[in-house]
Amino acid sequence: MTPQPTPPTDAHGIRIKGVTKVYPGQPSPAADDISLDIAPGEFMTFLGPSGSGKTTMLSMIAGLTSLSSGGIWIDGQDISRLKPHKRNLGVVFQQYALFPHLSVAKNVAFPLEQRRVPKDEIHRRVREVLDLVHLGPFAERLPRQLSGGQQQRVALARAVVYEPRALLMDEPLGALDKKLRDQLRGEIARMHRELKMTFIFVTHDQEEALTLSDRIAVFNEGRVEQLGTPTELYEHPATLFVAQFIGESNTFTGTLNRADAVLDCGAFTLRADPGDTPVSGTSSVVVVRPERLTLHPGDTPVRPDHNVVDAVVTEILYVGDHHRIGLRFPDGGSGSAVCSVAEQLPALPGRPVQASWDPEHQTVVPAHGADRESSGPELAEQPVDAIHGLHDQGVRPTYGGVV
Ligand SMILES: Nc1ncnc2c1ncn2[C@@H]1O[C@H](COP(=O)(O)OP(=O)(O)OP(=O)(O)O)[C@@H](O)[C@H]1O
Ligand SMILES: [Mg+2]
Repeated sequence: MTPQPTPPTDAHGIRIKGVTKVYPGQPSPAADDISLDIAPGEFMTFLGPSGSGKTTMLSMIAGLTSLSSGGIWIDGQDISRLKPHKRNLGVVFQQYALFPHLSVAKNVAFPLEQRRVPKDEIHRRVREVLDLVHLGPFAERLPRQLSGGQQQRVALARAVVYEPRALLMDEPLGALDKKLRDQLRGEIARMHRELKMTFIFVTHDQEEALTLSDRIAVFNEGRVEQLGTPTELYEHPATLFVAQFIGESNTFTGTLNRADAVLDCGAFTLRADPGDTPVSGTSSVVVVRPERLTLHPGDTPVRPDHNVVDAVVTEILYVGDHHRIGLRFPDGGSGSAVCSVAEQLPALPGRPVQASWDPEHQTVVPAHGADRESSGPELAEQPVDAIHGLHDQGVRPTYGGVV
């Protein structure tokens, strides 16, 4: 989906229109004609792999990087060429950047002192914002006497204390260990609810993006590949890149025949909704999420309006609340399904099964960039324990029997 900017007149919130950044000496733009609107009070996340242009876009909003072309408006005001401190935006980076010789309270007071806010008001606002981030009792400590998570909460407090028009965060949880990261993620969600401020959050962590955001802009090679709510991106990825970057997918590549709404994958055919976007005759990919697959023995009748593909179970991994079933399909591709721990396992590794799903739960995307082997993290990389000794029986299957 290409975001359609409307003219920057009536706009409330942040409007980014046709923004391009070409760094000197670089062959390709770091930001390539980006347009998107951020509503007042929205939690917007820029998600994408390393080098996709997230920091470049954020720092152009903050005023730390100049635009090569395009414009940025806040509440209808063109801020594209304003100095950073005139934009009234709060910014937090991965590194906390606190003043080491100043107490927590003095660090947080700093931007208010810069703005010549009266002393008693500074005192009141610092206390309020330290309470907001649960650091009231730590006001007199020095940064080095705090944990990483606490230091980052000071940085967040300092960025919102002067009530900026928006809070911009670039991988603010990146330097923290997993437990602190999860904790601070909850704090950021709570701060957003309480402050009702526009938040722009940069991450390459899909879980952070999915759990925190009202909407996510998925960045790829300097472009916004898709803009949507977490559910839209997960359930209806517009491109193979988005399908593979967010969550795990089973992907089946074939030639789409729109006339009979069928995707011919060679070894098998799949129903494709006639409303699906790719053009007839083109190489297209059916994407279906692991939790949408039902696995059953080959002789089980399948609803005629459902898709069904033969598969071989390659491994079964215990992930605590469910099993993850690795699958190999007749076209040589691999994928996975999930099975609740309360359910009976469909088959042991090495055994054939059928995987079926309701075409309502699939998406058809153009095939360019298709890469079956890299669709989602490899099962072997998941932090899981195999149980029931199934991994010991994990025969590497042969496929002749199931085609
Ligand atoms: N100051 C700079 N000069 C030249 N090229 C730059 C500069 N800063 C970034 N780039 C290039 O622009 C592209 C986008 O970089 P950017 O830092 O915006 O990516 P990112 O999505 O934030 O990545 P990461 O997740 O690694 O932080 C990259 O190819 C990068 O090498
Ligand atoms: Mg970055």
